[in-house]
Amino acid sequence: MRFNLYYLTLLLLLPLYGDITLENATCKKCHPTIFAEYKSSIHSNSSIFKDPIHKAVWSKHPDKVNNNYKCAKCHTPSDHDLISGKTKLSKNAIQEREPISCQACHTIKSIEEHKKINKNIFTKKKRYFFSADKQREGKVVKFKEKSSLLGLVTKTIGSPYHDIDYSNKNFYNGNMCLGCHDHKQNSKGFAVCDMQIRKGNLQENCISCHMPKLKGSFVNLKDTKKHAFHGISIHNMNISLLSKYIKLSLNQKDKGFEIDIKNEANHTLFAQPLRLNQLRVTIERNGKNIALKRENFVRIIGKDGKPAMPWVADSELKNTLIKAHEVRKVIYDTPLKKGDSVVVEFGYYLVNPKSAKKLGITDTNLIKFIVLTKDRFNI
Ligand code: HEC
Ligand code: HEC
Ligand code: HEC
Ligand code: HEC
Ligand code: HEC
Repeated sequence: MRFNLYYLTLLLLLPLYGDITLENATCKKCHPTIFAEYKSSIHSNSSIFKDPIHKAVWSKHPDKVNNNYKCAKCHTPSDHDLISGKTKLSKNAIQEREPISCQACHTIKSIEEHKKINKNIFTKKKRYFFSADKQREGKVVKFKEKSSLLGLVTKTIGSPYHDIDYSNKNFYNGNMCLGCHDHKQNSKGFAVCDMQIRKGNLQENCISCHMPKLKGSFVNLKDTKKHAFHGISIHNMNISLLSKYIKLSLNQKDKGFEIDIKNEANHTLFAQPLRLNQLRVTIERNGKNIALKRENFVRIIGKDGKPAMPWVADSELKNTLIKAHEVRKVIYDTPLKKGDSVVVEFGYYLVNPKSAKKLGITDTNLIKFIVLTKDRFNI
């Protein structure tokens, strides 16, 4: 009996504790659809306690000896005590459930550009969030109740919980992503990762491609029909939302043929140094499959001519990554015949199998080939 009571008390206390410490708990009540998507996104799984790849790299990192977790600025900015130096990295509800909370994004006022890493500047105003809406562009909306029909009908404008600022241009042009996503140099001043983002007045930006408008209201207090997708992840999201921005085509040549890969993204594809991007081509001929040589698109970083971990690397050994808006042509010298069917697969490994070995990563989900887009050309 005593045993059961103990658990009952714990159960009663736990949600309360959660409400106090977790910033997202309040948002969930009014924005359930967005919250549910967010939960499976990489931004709610970016700490070492949720992302096995991040954990594997951190385990080998020289700063781990002193538990000096500098990665927090981007991977777990919502653990405010850790960021301010009050605590050291440890497992807690924030690390596990909202390392990059709703607020971490919606309070970004501006981005300061720096050589080493950019910096997010947050607003200090309480319950004050930035967002984008073309119809309200430039306005700050505070909660208001309006009576009409002699006070019989009340209409509300804004959110009873927070103000909304629609005047931050970074939420329209996608720059709010770039405090964390632009580039990162190691202590030697070498760029470990650089998305080489093409800026300017483009048709699509980070937000329009990665957070497309899907069916479902963004708030349960009114029916907005659509909401911006918050489930950003390449680990477990529906790849078809993004594969349409990579176009494949086949051109026959005198000897052989050429596959063109058109990258419509405004950034280098798979710039994260652990990834391996690959093109696979198979000719189906008379009931037989002829697999052609695989083409890799990679960036290998290293030191003294040998591949090295990101904190050791000081040079680029190889870079065949596909750049922003590039059309990459890959030539094959195998002649095609009438009746052939050419199957083209463009995809990636989350972790290059060679790096996986060095990092001790064995989970097959992390080292399998994932098809981003696929096409079949009948000759
Ligand atoms: C506070 C820092 C931060 C901000 C702001 C941020 N991100 Fe991220 N994002 C990260 C981190 C850290 C990761 C990698 C997490 C991991 O894999 O453990 C990530 C991962 C991603 C990934 C997927 C990569 C993968 O491995 O699944 C995409 C896509 C992405 N972010 C897009 C965006 C977009 C678009 C925006 C702006 C709307 C944005 N991010 C804003 C920190 C941020
Ligand atoms: C400037 C912000 C920033 C800092 C600081 C940072 N990261 Fe990241 N990290 C990112 C972003 C953004 C991504 C997603 C990149 C992508 O997928 O293209 C990422 C992705 C990763 C990944 C790939 C994760 C996956 O699931 O595939 C690893 C591993 C990683 N970071 C390790 C680290 C480690 C270890 C540190 C600290 C020593 C660190 N990062 C510091 C921004 C940062
Ligand atoms: C009590 C309910 C409630 C809570 C709690 C709440 N919101 Fe809202 N939120 C609203 C309503 C209602 C709107 C729409 C207001 C309008 O359109 O006039 C809204 C709108 C927004 C918008 C802007 C939507 C747009 O038009 O672009 C953002 C961003 C937002 N909320 C973020 C948050 C975050 C982050 C949290 C948690 C810290 C949160 N909200 C908590 C009710 C709430
Ligand atoms: C035209 C559409 C488009 C635009 C604009 C775009 N992306 Fe992407 N992004 C893609 C596609 C396609 C991929 C590859 C598919 C994937 O990784 O799931 C991708 C992949 C990514 C990844 C994952 C790479 C990896 O290896 O983990 C990150 C992170 C990312 N984008 C961030 C951004 C940021 C930040 C911006 C704004 C500067 C942006 N994207 C703009 C289409 C776009
Ligand atoms: C990676 C950064 C990021 C995170 C994390 C994030 N948001 Fe957003 N959110 C955005 C951006 C950018 C927009 C603007 C999209 C647009 O309408 O163009 C947005 C839009 C919204 C909107 C309204 C617009 C719409 O059409 O849906 C609401 C409401 C909202 N977010 C709530 C939340 C809540 C609640 C959470 C946490 C569960 C959250 N956001 C987490 C970046 C983020």
